[in-house]
Amino acid sequence: MFLAGIYVMVAALAAVVAGDLDPPEKHYKILVLLPVSSQSHKNVFIPLAEALADRGHQVTMLSNSPKSTNHPNITDISHGLQHFQNINMFEYKDDWTTGFTMFEKVLPVIARDFYKVPLVKELYERRKEFDLFIVDHAFNEVVYPFLHQAPFIMVSTPGTDYRQSAVLGNVMNPAYVPSQSLDFSRPYSIWHRFLNTLIHIAFAVYWRNWNIVPQLQKEISAQFPELPPLLELERNMSLALMNTHFSIGIPLPLLPSQVEVGAMHCRPANPLPQELESWITGAGSSGVIYFNLGSFSRGSYMPVQYRDVFLQAFRRLPQRVVWKYEGELKNVPDNVMITNWVPQQDILAHNNVKVFITHCGLLGTQESIYHATPLLGLPIFADQNRNSMFIRNSGVGDFLLWEELTEDVIVNAINDIINNPKYKDNILRKSKLMRDQPVSPTELAVFWTEYVIRHKGAPQLRSPAAQLSWVEFLMLDVIFLLHLTVFFLYFITRRILRVIYAKIFSANDSIKKKRE
Ligand SMILES: *[C@@H]1O[C@H](CO)[C@@H](O)[C@H](O)[C@H]1NC(C)=O
Ligand SMILES: *[C@@H]1O[C@H](CO)[C@@H](O)[C@H](O)[C@H]1NC(C)=O
Repeated sequence: MFLAGIYVMVAALAAVVAGDLDPPEKHYKILVLLPVSSQSHKNVFIPLAEALADRGHQVTMLSNSPKSTNHPNITDISHGLQHFQNINMFEYKDDWTTGFTMFEKVLPVIARDFYKVPLVKELYERRKEFDLFIVDHAFNEVVYPFLHQAPFIMVSTPGTDYRQSAVLGNVMNPAYVPSQSLDFSRPYSIWHRFLNTLIHIAFAVYWRNWNIVPQLQKEISAQFPELPPLLELERNMSLALMNTHFSIGIPLPLLPSQVEVGAMHCRPANPLPQELESWITGAGSSGVIYFNLGSFSRGSYMPVQYRDVFLQAFRRLPQRVVWKYEGELKNVPDNVMITNWVPQQDILAHNNVKVFITHCGLLGTQESIYHATPLLGLPIFADQNRNSMFIRNSGVGDFLLWEELTEDVIVNAINDIINNPKYKDNILRKSKLMRDQPVSPTELAVFWTEYVIRHKGAPQLRSPAAQLSWVEFLMLDVIFLLHLTVFFLYFITRRILRVIYAKIFSANDSIKKKRE
């Protein structure tokens, strides 16, 4: 009876995901490539892969994390290279690129070794069998050789990526669109717009033209001398699936080839394991603080002074704390539960969980909004800084800086978020907005994925702007011509006026002479 109930529930959920789409014309073979992605990036892809597999497509995923799905139509494989594992991002907290310099060391080595892995080599040789490639746009340039002469979609996992948008022909305006890593309070001041413009340009040039891609290009060219340059291959992108939605970001002018499918992984809660359920319910009316720095910046990497200050602060609070932390911790107060595995969404959905202390990863932030639990951010690197500013600007929580952490600062921030009702009100409203969509984001992603396959790369989606150079796009040549025209008109008019004046005056002169 119980199992039958679960079966009905699962079937109902599957129906929600597959939604109202007609069955596909054919079953396709799709290769999902995310070899340089953290587990959280992979979590963006799993719902899409599963929904495609439910529709009978054969999906192969190549990543660097352990098998994450048992779906019979998904082959989930890991390449096994260790270069992008166990990196302590606390070491990059003060880096000028907010952590991206880490890739200077990692990516060229991956590019050198990747195609030597037998399993990758074999997939590369079979690449013509696939009807479509789906690629994680962040950091995965190493797979671009797969994309030569094939239709492909890119997923911008960290939300809006102004660089990817520019590749599609939609150059985003730094007067209000944040970069990958930083955002400011709104509206931007002139100083913020100035800074933001510099960051947009500097980071794109650093990544694409100066340091990262040129290094990768060298490694890839050595192995595939006949292929066009990586950035040329990237320009043939059919579609970008963006892990954003205007209700939990900012409204943007988008091309038909940019589809917002943010928060595909958010789902209704499942029951909690018994132990967690009784710990959380047992906290009574004081409620529970949930503390998790994510899969990449694990709790155990946290410098000792911060760890101790948190333990001291928690000791002073009436709430209970669930802290995801890998490893042993000494002197843990009675109100703190340490655990190395947590069903995050089910915790966030629990009524008695009052605040989520987070590193502001995009997925966790989306989950917290979906389940309406206010946030206290502690951004460490990359887009986490941008997300923390979004949390503050939209009033669904606030954030602290690591350098300013003291017991009092932590206790006061937690008290403010729990006791001031505005945070809960704001996040409840956002949660409603985020769920108010005509179709689920996964369904939308499935539709567009099949669309690109059906229409063989869907060239009708491509903006002509994507073919333009910067000079053409910014109309620098046209502006130059306009200037020339104005000068030309000015000189011509001046010439003509001179001639006319000369005529008039000489006529006057001759009349004067006659009178004399
Ligand atoms: C797997 O794909 C086949 C067709 O290729 C389909 O008939 C089957 O229902 C799919 N399996 C699941 C569990 O969705
Ligand atoms: C560009 O993509 C189309 C299909 O999407 C493909 O037919 C064509 O060969 C690709 N061109 C290059 C240079 O990869």
